[in-house]
Amino acid sequence: MYFVVHSSIIGYFCKLFFEYNLFKLTYKYNFLMNSNFINANGLHKVDPVFGQSSFDNHEQVVFCNDKDTGLKAIIAIHSTVLGPALGGTRMWQYNSEWDALNDALRLSRAMTFKAAITGLNIGGGKAVIIGDAKTQKTPKLMKRFGEFIHALSGKYITTEDVGMETTDMDLIRDVTPFVTGISESKGGVGNPSPITAYGVFMGMKAAAEYKFGNDILEDKTVFVQGIGHVGESLVENLINEGANVFITDINEQKLQEVSEKYGAKIYRGNDIYSEKMDIYAPCALGATVNDDTIYKIKAEVIAGAANNQLANEDKHGKILQERGIVYAPDFLISAGGIISVYAELENYGKKEIMRKTENIFNTTLEILESAHKTSITPHQAALRIAEKRIKARKLEISK
Ligand SMILES: NC(=O)c1ccc[n+]([C@@H]2O[C@H](COP(=O)([O-])OP(=O)(O)OC[C@H]3O[C@@H](n4cnc5c(N)ncnc54)[C@H](O)[C@@H]3O)[C@@H](O)[C@H]2O)c1
Repeated sequence: MYFVVHSSIIGYFCKLFFEYNLFKLTYKYNFLMNSNFINANGLHKVDPVFGQSSFDNHEQVVFCNDKDTGLKAIIAIHSTVLGPALGGTRMWQYNSEWDALNDALRLSRAMTFKAAITGLNIGGGKAVIIGDAKTQKTPKLMKRFGEFIHALSGKYITTEDVGMETTDMDLIRDVTPFVTGISESKGGVGNPSPITAYGVFMGMKAAAEYKFGNDILEDKTVFVQGIGHVGESLVENLINEGANVFITDINEQKLQEVSEKYGAKIYRGNDIYSEKMDIYAPCALGATVNDDTIYKIKAEVIAGAANNQLANEDKHGKILQERGIVYAPDFLISAGGIISVYAELENYGKKEIMRKTENIFNTTLEILESAHKTSITPHQAALRIAEKRIKARKLEISK
């Protein structure tokens, strides 16, 4: 008897010890659990999806896997209150599946607010494909991904994001109508990035008007971080205006090309945040305004295309405000692209796209002024307007 009780207690503690260490290990390395590796109790403790801090009552999260093409993707649908969830697909070599999931959740949420504040009748969604767009993207993989989108029957509509080209959207179009940003030759509006850049330029001008008393960017020193599809177009707009433009990117070839084409200066330092500048334009990936960078930033204005620039919206938004740095909310000023691809759904032309995108100037200025009056951050002010619209629509639907 003694032996039985004793061994079961030892067994129990061994199990606890084992589970605790497994949990710590999983947590430490951010592994997405594999059923061979951990039991259901362990899964429950880590709360893989609904328990994530970036999970914000998303309506649906879809994990797509196809062994033959190597496709591993996540489609996150945050909200369809205002309409079908529209948002780009990003292909990126994430450090872990946790990072990919976190990105999909945060990006899709931002799309909900971007559409809402821009007055478009669409919801927020986003997809991420895990992998290197340069070496792992194939036509077969893109089409297979399109089939997963098709299976959602229009609840999610995709378009370009980081790592994607118009030709990829054309491939998706071969298997589903639920894609925008396809080539003009196929009846689409083409690459939305130049319109996104124009909207960012408008938002940046509004922030300059608010901070410096006029919107002229001539002779202002602007650092553009990331000179991909959007960043390059933004550089073009800035150079045309006579700004003093510095560029950074992890792609050396692209740096040389853009520098030669527009006469922008390549930044060779190793800490862009500490540099003295008028405007910092994040146009690569998100969360560059974070605990490590926020007190180093010397820019007077932050205005760029990257989604989710503030690692922690409330905390970092507040610190920027306290430091007198004007932050033009990313989801507001980068809406040009979605305005452009929305035209494919609503059948409006270039003139209307430009009118709506130009209006980003007025909205940004209004939000910066109202944030100041109500003592909240610009991000919070923009969010309030977007949330109000979604709430009103919810009420309308429920009647
Ligand atoms: N394409 C659009 O219409 C659109 C619309 C709204 C928002 N955005 C956002 O704007 C950003 C840029 O989008 P894009 O379409 O130009 O993507 P892209 O892939 O064409 O360009 C991104 C660029 O950033 C560079 N980069 C990556 N990490 C970097 C780092 N650590 N430092 C410096 N450069 C780095 C890449 O090398 C690349 O040149 C993304 O955050 C995207 O979500 C894009």
